[in-house]
Amino acid sequence: MHNNVLILDFGSQYTQLIARRVRELNIFCEIKPYNKLPENLDIYKAVILSGSPFSVRAEDAPHPDLSQIQGKKPLLAVCYGAQYLAHFGGGEVAPSNTREYGRAKLSFLDHEDHFFDGVEAGSQVWMSHSDTIKHLPTNAKLIGSTDDVKNAAYKIEGETTYAIQFHPEVYHSTDGAKMLKNFLVDIAGVHQDWTPDSFVHETVEELKKTVGSDKVILGLSGGVDSTVAAVLLHKAIGSHLHCIFVNNGLLRKDEFSQVLDQYKHMGLNVKGVDASDRFLDALKGISDPETKRKTIGKVFIDVFDDESHKVEDAKWLGQGTIYPDVIESVSATGGPSATIKSHHNVGGLPDYMKLKVVEPLKLLFKDEVRRVGAALGIDAKLLGRHPFPGPGLGIRILGDITPEKVRILQEVDAVFVNGLREWGLYDKVWQAGAMLLPVNSVGVMGDERTYEKCVALRAVESTDGMTADWVNFPYEFLQKVSNDIINKVPGVNRVVYDISSKPPATIEWE
Ligand code: XMP
Repeated sequence: MHNNVLILDFGSQYTQLIARRVRELNIFCEIKPYNKLPENLDIYKAVILSGSPFSVRAEDAPHPDLSQIQGKKPLLAVCYGAQYLAHFGGGEVAPSNTREYGRAKLSFLDHEDHFFDGVEAGSQVWMSHSDTIKHLPTNAKLIGSTDDVKNAAYKIEGETTYAIQFHPEVYHSTDGAKMLKNFLVDIAGVHQDWTPDSFVHETVEELKKTVGSDKVILGLSGGVDSTVAAVLLHKAIGSHLHCIFVNNGLLRKDEFSQVLDQYKHMGLNVKGVDASDRFLDALKGISDPETKRKTIGKVFIDVFDDESHKVEDAKWLGQGTIYPDVIESVSATGGPSATIKSHHNVGGLPDYMKLKVVEPLKLLFKDEVRRVGAALGIDAKLLGRHPFPGPGLGIRILGDITPEKVRILQEVDAVFVNGLREWGLYDKVWQAGAMLLPVNSVGVMGDERTYEKCVALRAVESTDGMTADWVNFPYEFLQKVSNDIINKVPGVNRVVYDISSKPPATIEWE
C-alpha cells in the first residue's frame, strides 16, 4: 500500500490542482469532501485542507471538527484552510481592508523551519482571499509574511501542523511545489513511491483479483483513456477482455482501419463493427445539434448492446473513466455534490445489461493516464492524439449530415491535421479540426465561376478544454493549408480560420 495523502475539499476551484501537484511529487493522494471524512484515517500519512469560496465567518461555511486530525497527523492548511484552522484554534479571522488577490512577495521567512528550505525572501506567491487572519490561534508561531499580509504562514508549536494563506498549488507561486515537497517529504516523512510503473503493477494485480476469470466488455473509441484502460485489463485478464470498436461513420479519414490495425498489433482482442450506415440513416434530415448528439448516443448504445450480446456470459463493462469525472467535490453553494459525468460514449447503457462496471483509471488525471500508457509501452503517437468528440464529425458538420458532407469534411480535416504534423505543430496544439459550414460562397477557379462550400479551421491551446485560446499559427502555414484544401478537396472554395477564444465561444461549433 502506498503512502497516501488526504486532501479535504472545502470547495475551492484549486483543489484538483493541489492533487496534481502532490501526484507530480510521485505521492498518491485522494480528494474527499470536508464533510465526508473517511472512516479509516490510518491509511493517510498527511492531510491537506483546501481553500474555499466561503468566509469562515459565514454561518453556512464548512466548519468540520478537526480534532481527529490536528495534532494526530501532519497537517497543511491552505488559504481558507489556514483561516479555518485559526478560527478553530482560538484565533481571529476578519474582513481584510487591503487587496489580497494576485501576486505577492514573501518578505519574511523563518528559516529555522524546514518548511521554507530552498525558498528565499522575495519569492512570489499567489493570494486569493478577502478575509485575513487577524490573530493567530493558540500556540501558533509566525513563520512567513508578505508586505500586505503579516500572518501569511504559521505553524502550531509541538505539532506538525502548518498553515499558509497563499496557494502553493498554482504556478504563480514560484516555490509552491518546493514548499509542498518540504512539508510532505521532509516534515511529514511521506515516501515518494507512486510511479506509473507501480500503478501498473498494483492495478493489474487488483484487476486479477476483482475480475478473476470473468469476461469483460469494453468499448474502444480510439482515444487515450479507453485504450489505456483496455491495455491494463488485457494485461490482467488477456483474452477474457472483449473490446468493441464502433465505426459511427463520423470518424476521421481512414481512422477506423488504422486504429483497428493498431489495436490488433497491440494484441487486443478487438472486434471492429462498421455501423456507419446505421448512424447516417438515423441522422438523415436532423440539423439540431443536441438532437444529433442524442441520436448518435442512442444508435451507439443499440450497436454496442447488439454486439455485447454476442459475447456469451460477460459479467463486466470496462470503462476509461478518469479522476476528474468522479471526484466528489464540494459545490460552491456549500453542499457536497457528486459531480459525476456520464462517460460520453457508453454513458446511459440500459439497465437490463446488468453488467458490473470496472474502471481501472478512475483515480488518474489525464496526464497520468498518458504516463501510464507510456509505461505500458503504448505508441507515443496514439497517446499524444488530440481529443476528439464522441459524436465525431457529426457536430462539425453544421446543419444536416449527408455521406457527401462527411466525405468532404474528412478530406479537409486530413489535409489540416497532416499539415500540422508536417510542420511540427501537432504536439503544440491541444485540439484541432475543421468545421463544414452550411454556407456556399462564390469563387472563381480557372475561368469558371464556382458556388461551393466554406470550411472553418479551428485550433486551440488549452489544458483541460474548459478554457481555450485560438492558436496563433504562422501565416505561411495557414496559407499552405488553405491552398491545399481548396486545390485538393472538390466542393470547397473558401477557407476561414476561427479566432474566437473559449469563453465566450466553445471549441466545437455545435
Ligand atoms: P466545447 O465545444 O464544449 O468542447 O468547448 C470541450 C471539449 O469537449 C469535446 N466535446 C465533446 N466530447 N461528446 C464528447 O465526447 C460531445 O458531445 C462533445 N462536445 C464537445 C470537445 O471536442 C472539446 O475537446
